[in-house]
Order: sequence, then C-alpha cells, then structure tokens
Amino acid sequence: MLKDSFGRTFPYIRMSITDVCNFKCGYCLPNGYQVDKSDNRKFLHLDEIKRLAKCFSELGVCKIRITGGEPTVRKDFFEIIKVLKIETEIKKVVITTNGYHLDKKAKQLVDSGLNGINISIDSLDRETFKNVTGHDRLPEILQGIKNLQDLGFENIKINAVLLNGINSSEKDFDKWSNFIEKNKVDFRYIELMQTGDNLEYFKKYHVSSKIFKNYLNKNKWIYQTLGKDAGPSLNYINPEYKGKFGIIAPYSKDFCKTCNRLRITSRGDLRLCLFGNTGISVRHLLQKDDQLSELKDLILKQMQYKKESHYLELGETGSTKNLSKTGG
Ligand code: 5AD
Ligand code: SF4
Repeated sequence: MLKDSFGRTFPYIRMSITDVCNFKCGYCLPNGYQVDKSDNRKFLHLDEIKRLAKCFSELGVCKIRITGGEPTVRKDFFEIIKVLKIETEIKKVVITTNGYHLDKKAKQLVDSGLNGINISIDSLDRETFKNVTGHDRLPEILQGIKNLQDLGFENIKINAVLLNGINSSEKDFDKWSNFIEKNKVDFRYIELMQTGDNLEYFKKYHVSSKIFKNYLNKNKWIYQTLGKDAGPSLNYINPEYKGKFGIIAPYSKDFCKTCNRLRITSRGDLRLCLFGNTGISVRHLLQKDDQLSELKDLILKQMQYKKESHYLELGETGSTKNLSKTGG
C-alpha cells in the first residue's frame, strides 16, 4: 500500500491523459487551450497508461480517475477506458469531464464499463454557464445526464466552482437544491483555487464556501461523516432528496489531512500534490513490461517527499499555472 510519512494512504490516482480542453473557463483557460511550447513531450500513450495502471494496482490502488484538460477529446479515449477496465485490476475507473457532447456520448460511456462520472457544471442558468465556459452547451450536458440515468448509470457527480456574484446566491443554491431533489446525483461546490495564471480572477471571484455551508445548515441538511478513505469533500444528506450536497474547501484548515490521492500528469510526471513542485517523471519506466518492479520502487521512494499540506493559504501555487495540466 502507498503510504506517506504522515500516515496517509493513497488508494486513489488521478491521471491526466491530455492538457487539451475545448472549453474556456474563466478560472482555468480564459483564452482557450494554448500549446505549451516549452514542453514538446507527447501525451502518455495507451501502453504507458496501461503499464502505469497495472503498477498502481499492485501498489494497492483501487480507483483511477481519468482527467484532462478534457479527457474525452482524445481519439482513443474509449479505448483507454476499456483497457483500464479489462486489462488491469483497477476496480473503479471514473472520469472527470466538462460534459461536451455528453448527450451523444452517454451510451458509449455506459458501454465502456466506466464506474463513475464527474461533470463540471458551474451554473444551471444557461447564460451564466455560457459566460463562464465560453460555450452555450448547458442543454446538451443536462440531456446527457438524463441519458445516463435512463441507461441506469448510477454514479454521477456534478462539480461547480463557487464564484462570487456569479453562482453564489441563494437563488443559485435553490436551483441546485431543486435539481438534486429529483435527481440522484451528488452536487459539490469547489472553492476557487488560486493558480499561477489566475490571480486577478481569483481576487475578483474567490469566496469562502462558508456561504454555502450556512445555506445547508439553515435548510436542515445533515453533515455526513464518512469513512477513512473518503477524501476531502464534506458531504450533506437530506432524506427528502434523492441527491446529496458536498463542499470541497481546499483552503480549510484540515483539508490536506484527508488527502488520499496522487496525480499523474498527461506527460507522465508523478505529482504528489495538486499544488507544489514535488514530483518527478516516471515515464522512462513505462516503456517495457519488465520495468514494473523498478517503477514500483521509484513510486514508493517518492512517497517520502509528500508534504503535509499544500500551503495554498500562504499564496503558494507551486508549478501549477492552471488546472488543465493536472486535471483539478
Ligand atoms: N479552482 C477550483 N476548481 C477548479 N477547476 C479548474 N480550475 C479550478 C480552480 N482554479 C475545476 C473544474 C473541474 C475540476 C476538474 O476542477 O471546474 O470541476
Ligand atoms: Fe477545460 Fe476544465 Fe479548465 Fe474548464 S476547468 S477550461 S473544462 S480544463
């Protein structure tokens, strides 16, 4: 089992398979995806992804989240999911997506054997959604969710980045409340995080998730304590609602205490934290099947360098220019 020097274990990997994204979220890629001229390494290919997943499964990892950029823009996206599902021992293969063409992809996603999907929807108001992402695609995403549900797909989560004055009013919270009353999905607000690129945006729109927490408390939502490996989301239930609410508050004091994940960037760097510079490339050990034990040793050795906290509250953003590189 992967373990660090603070006693945390890591049954969960977030693996980015591309930096490319077709959306232009104001906090992430306001001018859209730009090719990184300082890094001409190709994105991990299928065989490398498979070897890495096999290695992690031998190190006790049971869940891999495929992220981007936008993972579904890769031509071999469905092949990647299938290979992870069929040719590795990873129990749960899940993705994070912006929901682009979700209506059309729903069936193929279900057929791929995927175990869960996180969809980013910053607002249920069509105009606001368009303003934040640069795309008038809310209807196709909501239709996509319906299609997934009609096909019996269970594990659907929705994430929104909480943005002051954009999606942070009682009215916005009420809209989500109505949505999850009838829909069995988990909706979570993520507090906006400062990255190397978004300081101005951050200053303008960051707001503490306490406003949403207060709303939940006022409306009789019940805080649900979860098991040891649950990760950093605070979850709330209400017996009259099919769905659940959650809060991801990276600036809160104890956020890093429940960290249970490591990250792999799209070019094969192991990242010990979403923020910060710690981590090395493991790609040279992904080239042949017989490098597996060497790869395992390297990853195990890296664990001693994982720090206790991200130090975000000190304005530390490390090498993270925006989250499209590390998949949020
Ligand atoms: N702060 C908080 N969340 C972010 N995401 C992207 N950039 C940021 C940021 N600066 C979110 C996306 C998506 C997930 C992958 O990360 O909206 O839900
Ligand atoms: Fe794309 Fe996600 Fe960044 Fe939005 S937040 S631009 S969907 S990578």
